[in-house]
Amino acid sequence: MATSTFERRSPPIKLAELSSLSAADSAAINAVLARLKNLPGALLPILHGVQEALGHVPKDAVPVIAKSLNLSRAEVHGVISFYHWYRTEKPGEHVLHLCRAEACQAVGGRALEAHVKASLGIDFHETTADGRYTLEPAYCLGNCAVGPSLMIDGALKGRVTADRFDRLTGVTA
Ligand code: FES
Repeated sequence: MATSTFERRSPPIKLAELSSLSAADSAAINAVLARLKNLPGALLPILHGVQEALGHVPKDAVPVIAKSLNLSRAEVHGVISFYHWYRTEKPGEHVLHLCRAEACQAVGGRALEAHVKASLGIDFHETTADGRYTLEPAYCLGNCAVGPSLMIDGALKGRVTADRFDRLTGVTA
């Protein structure tokens, strides 16, 4: 009896099982999971921990985290996409969080935002072509009294003008 075309084919590759995580990234994710997975409401601390360790939450970390917490991939992915804080792409060398909330907007935040975007040549959630800066929005950095506020690699800066931004970053339009 002839074998059908279907039967002669190799077993399908399970794409979901392929991972682009390096050994170092996997080790970092597993270390975060080992440290935090037994906390109540562990998902958010784990996502924070992974982003702190790797600069982002790689898409291939989602199934690993989901399995460890006995959640579905969709549940983990849903949380990552809900919070602006989490990035799924590797960021630039420096991450800038520019405040877009009301108090900063009232003291020049919009003009500063326009200057920052023009100087860097990128919009929010983008990285400069040289890989130096990633720009992210923030919705209050808790520094309202001395806005407009900007955070550079976690360091908060207040009363940021266009000139001060240029001095802080060494970027000019
Ligand atoms: S509104 Fe910008 S720091 Fe609060």
